[in-house]
Amino acid sequence: MGDLKGITSRLDYLADLGVDVLWLSPVFKSPQDDNGYDISDYQDIDPLFGTLDDMDELLAQAHERGLKVVMDLVVNHTSDEHSWFQASRDKNDEHADWYIWRAARDGYTPGEPGAEPNKWGSYFGGSAWQFDEKRGEYFLHQYSKKQPDLNWENPAVRQAVYAMMNWWMDRGIDGFRMDVITQISKPYDTQGRLPGEDGSELEDFPAGSDGYSSPFPFCSDGPRVDEFLAEMRREVFAHREGFLTVGEAPGITPKRNEHITNPDNGELDMLFLFNHVDVDCENGTKWNPTPLRLTELKRTLSEQQQAVKNNGWASLFFNNHDQPRAVSRWGDDSTEESRSLSAKALGLLLHMHRGTPYIYQGEELGMTNAHFTRLEQYRDLESINMYHQRVDEAGIQSSESMMDALARRGRDNARTPMQWDASCYAGFTAEDAPTEPWISVNPNHEHINAVEEVCDSNSVYSFYKQLIALRHTNPVISAGDWQILDASNEQIYAFMRSLGDERVLVLVNVSGSAVDVPAESAAVLAASGLDEHSINQRLLLSTYESNHAVSSVLNQRLEAWEGIVLRID
Ligand code: NOJ
Repeated sequence: MGDLKGITSRLDYLADLGVDVLWLSPVFKSPQDDNGYDISDYQDIDPLFGTLDDMDELLAQAHERGLKVVMDLVVNHTSDEHSWFQASRDKNDEHADWYIWRAARDGYTPGEPGAEPNKWGSYFGGSAWQFDEKRGEYFLHQYSKKQPDLNWENPAVRQAVYAMMNWWMDRGIDGFRMDVITQISKPYDTQGRLPGEDGSELEDFPAGSDGYSSPFPFCSDGPRVDEFLAEMRREVFAHREGFLTVGEAPGITPKRNEHITNPDNGELDMLFLFNHVDVDCENGTKWNPTPLRLTELKRTLSEQQQAVKNNGWASLFFNNHDQPRAVSRWGDDSTEESRSLSAKALGLLLHMHRGTPYIYQGEELGMTNAHFTRLEQYRDLESINMYHQRVDEAGIQSSESMMDALARRGRDNARTPMQWDASCYAGFTAEDAPTEPWISVNPNHEHINAVEEVCDSNSVYSFYKQLIALRHTNPVISAGDWQILDASNEQIYAFMRSLGDERVLVLVNVSGSAVDVPAESAAVLAASGLDEHSINQRLLLSTYESNHAVSSVLNQRLEAWEGIVLRID
């Protein structure tokens, strides 16, 4: 599976890359219905990953190398196997009100179709309500039926969560990435009912072709989000220093990001917004993927950047454990050359924005999508459930088109084992007795792997190392203002960074064909009066050899996937 001892043994690799903080996906005790996002004991480590002692050792070793460690806080829901939920199934238990329980709809037999309290569907398929025989009622689960939503209205729930967070902070972790944290507050009416519970049809958001209406528009930024986050800050972080909090925030607007991450409001340091990774799908469903329009990516990222211009802060990511690999999605992994070039171009584009960049394991090697062709190869419950729901049950998509969508968008694309070396299981399982990992290794590990790339100065890994170093040594990159150029150009992504008198121009050709530098960027170059010699001196980074970059700037023409960072003043 990959475990804590394995990570500890690779800390030198991370330190060498130059990262500051390590975010661990959930390693808590869990039945693993959703890869650990279903936690049955927050204060223990799942035996798959090791023990609490292994965690302490990982923390000690990371800290010794100057690395901080943040853990994944999953408190919108627990596992149905958590003792809180088991106790809550008894109406007389003190935990009775810790989850969101509802009786069957009037006039329907409990447990029969149509008796669910409203028409919400789960993000992982089927109804968002599950009938519990023991309690004789339904519980809400926005995610799988093994992930019941906690009732954050109940102060005892909140206090239990804060106590658990304090326990981990006292143990030495440096903060939390908070799973769907902006979904914890639900929109109850004055009688405590959820939308549609009165039998109404949720008219603004009617049931889709699968028969369900989404909880997303209602639960993604509920009425008490700010209040709960500020309370959490006071209860857990008020007297601490040097910690990091980043909330996963699907559906949160850039404007709301400004509010939540403005230090004056005492909520979170950063949020992960999703509007920029949702641009290439039709009708809002990722199962209808469309080609990227670069102007849409520019528009969404510009909105995010502008919103936190004065207050608040941005996080920067293209990849994570839920997204397909960016190099396969928006780059070109069809040849070795285009893979390497486009991985660098996308990395450069992202890292030169203003905010805190996140690198997802293997991104720094240019790891690609899994390119699975059979459903049996998938492990992710979302992919498997959505295939059955859309193809077998609702019949709204052909098997062929859904398999294509999974190959392009499925979450397992990012979850294949880290490619350490060219050996049979890519060095992911024990060296002395390698066994088959839980999900197939990508066959391209034979040439895309850490051993090859660490010692190759032209590799994606070496490029990411330079990207990180550039940010660490140039305040204009980490903190400078950000201004888009040529917003309507579909091939070149260009922007300026500025701090005091310093100005940096970033140009990236996000395509596989050469193209002239567009007007606004060309005007900046022309006004700068740079010649061959000064360009060479002011070139901070380039995806091609520096000589090549100099001629590209002089000719105002970028090669396929060429990216350039140039000091202008
Ligand atoms: C978001 C996580 O990133 C994802 O992996 C998980 O399935 C859901 N939240 C539910 O916890």
